[in-house]
Amino acid sequence: MALKITVIGTGYLGATHAAAMAELGFEVLGLDVVPEKIEMLRRGEVPMYEPGLEELLRRHVAGFEGSTGRLRFTTSYEEAGAFGEVHFVCVNTPQKHGEYACDMSYVESAFSSLAPHLDRPALVVGKSTVPVGSAARLARLLAAQAPAGEAAELAWNPEFLREGFAVDDTLHPDRIVVGVASERAEALLREIYATPVGEGSPFVVMDYPTAELVKTAANSFLATKISFINAMAEVCEAADGDVVKLAEAIGHDERIGKKFLRAGVGFGGGCLPKDIRAFMARAGELGADQALTFLREVDSINMRRRGHMVELTRDAVGGTFLGKRVAVLGATFKPDSDDVRDSPALNVAGQIHLQGGQVTVYDPKGMANARRLFPTLGYADSALEAVRGADAVLHLTEWREFRELDPAVLGEAVTARRILDGRNALDPELWRKAGWTYRALGRPKA
Ligand code: UDX
Repeated sequence: MALKITVIGTGYLGATHAAAMAELGFEVLGLDVVPEKIEMLRRGEVPMYEPGLEELLRRHVAGFEGSTGRLRFTTSYEEAGAFGEVHFVCVNTPQKHGEYACDMSYVESAFSSLAPHLDRPALVVGKSTVPVGSAARLARLLAAQAPAGEAAELAWNPEFLREGFAVDDTLHPDRIVVGVASERAEALLREIYATPVGEGSPFVVMDYPTAELVKTAANSFLATKISFINAMAEVCEAADGDVVKLAEAIGHDERIGKKFLRAGVGFGGGCLPKDIRAFMARAGELGADQALTFLREVDSINMRRRGHMVELTRDAVGGTFLGKRVAVLGATFKPDSDDVRDSPALNVAGQIHLQGGQVTVYDPKGMANARRLFPTLGYADSALEAVRGADAVLHLTEWREFRELDPAVLGEAVTARRILDGRNALDPELWRKAGWTYRALGRPKA
């Protein structure tokens, strides 16, 4: 009999994890407290844009012709408790409003809703990104609230998936990290991850606090790398240097590496910004705040990029946005996603709008989410439509579609051929040859 697994929370992380577990051969029950999400998933529809996820889901969701039927969905914790031998908790831990700390209420609620239904041995596996120390506390809560007592065990198994690559990152992780308190928990997790481990994914076993810290340390390192290159971009601009060449040259050193050295408007999304802030808040509670003061700088370098992009654009259009039209290409925080959480592109668009500019945004997948979050901005259904009459065009999310645009065709539609590349992802020569003034963050003017 295949192991029975429940996945609690069906957002980016949970929906992908549930489908991946079914792909690995397990019987899976996905749970969410939002009935509309569950209805969509039952119909084989994914509530967000994630390449390859819908196909994976339809291969397994019960009721689809030709599906394995191994994946079902529910809103009932009672059903989840009765079904699962292993329960993965994949709920969100967003930043608290007006504070650095993360909001643990979804995690708390998942654990306290599930625990009363655990009346036989079960392993609960936390995947959400949480402040260090949470796992030990949640393990005590489980033992106290589950009828099975200490037979309801906890493990912590952080997730490192990237949006846009979620399916591949889940099925072929570059490492599997597990924080456990017993051999039984380790053995169960080894059984679950046997396929990726067999394909070469390292399986790293540790205690709860280290497992929780691995996730925040990894994201802090990535954020630091991006802010480092963006700091170099600031210096390059002051000294007339070229940050793209600089990144390429330092990246040849294997100790530094080429990845995550793309200078631009900086990082956004539902993870990096809130994770470094929550990490600082937690370190403060632990009396270790000095260790992480550099993250405050990482955060402020990142936020400065957005303001700088606005300033460059304002200078480019003659010192004021009043009476000017600005086209913004990109709304999501990164390409191949429809996620607009803490998106640098929308933040820049919003600032220009507030300063009196007439902004028109286009994004291949993020339009619906952008419209919901920033209803007062202008929107267009294509890049060509967005740039019509523009005094400046901003490239703020590096979708492939934008790299394939023909500058000559766009040039016919704009008022002035000015492009500002906030992602250093367009080919400057191509645009300049078509008569555009090309400006980018951290690169020389001409
Ligand atoms: C991140 C981590 O990469 C992932 O391991 C973790 O599980 C969740 O957080 P994600 O938020 O999907 O994943 O995006 P990521 O690809 O890391 O990019 C984050 C942001 O950094 C994006 O806004 C991206 O545009 C920006 N970025 C990335 C840069 O500005 N420069 C770079 O060189 C790389």
